[in-house]
Amino acid sequence: MSFLELAKRRYATKKYDPTKKISAKQINELKEIIRLSPSSINSQPWQFTFVTDDIVKKELASQSYMNEPSVNDVGLLVVFSVMEDIKYFEKHNISILPEGWITGFYEPMIKSNGDAATKTWMEHQVYLSLGYFLSACISLGLDATPMEGINREAYQRILAQDGFAPLFAVTVGYADLSDWMHPTVFPKSRFELDQVIRSI
Ligand SMILES: Cc1cc2nc3c(=O)[nH]c(=O)nc-3n(C[C@H](O)[C@H](O)[C@H](O)COP(=O)(O)O)c2cc1C
Repeated sequence: MSFLELAKRRYATKKYDPTKKISAKQINELKEIIRLSPSSINSQPWQFTFVTDDIVKKELASQSYMNEPSVNDVGLLVVFSVMEDIKYFEKHNISILPEGWITGFYEPMIKSNGDAATKTWMEHQVYLSLGYFLSACISLGLDATPMEGINREAYQRILAQDGFAPLFAVTVGYADLSDWMHPTVFPKSRFELDQVIRSI
């Protein structure tokens, strides 16, 4: 199937079929794919937590507001987190990069803007991996939903994360065909091409 066809097919799934769970083989493939996600100067300031354990998933579901039922029904929940400590990030992720990337880009264009701007830039890299991941899911025939609507502090506590802070999570599974958001029922809504694309 072409990428355009896949883009039309993927949608933010609101209701999953609890009887159809993602396989261990597909989970392993998604792990390999997300590891290969690109990031600015290959900085990789992230951690991806794959949750399949029903007890942990139930706890996270209770902190997922309106998505609580879908987190409970789905087979896989992936939590996307950003590295918290900039000093550790620079020692572990930046210092191993080619010198020119550090002195020519990271130091003058990112670090020089201060800690808050550096953290925002790190978060951008994690968000970029979301787009990559959503495309990977639909290419494997899997439905998925990104969720910023989670209690991030509670997620961090439940997952006992050290040094990483959750930004958002993604449910991955098979849509229930009665889902009211399914594109065959609720057509995709986007601005027209000429409203969002300029060709010069
Ligand atoms: C970063 C991000 C965060 C989102 N957070 C939520 C969320 O918390 N709950 C939810 O049901 N959908 C969430 N969505 C899904 C969007 O509402 C959805 O992608 C958008 O309406 C476009 O619809 P489509 O993905 O079905 O084409 C999120 C999407 C993105 C990209």
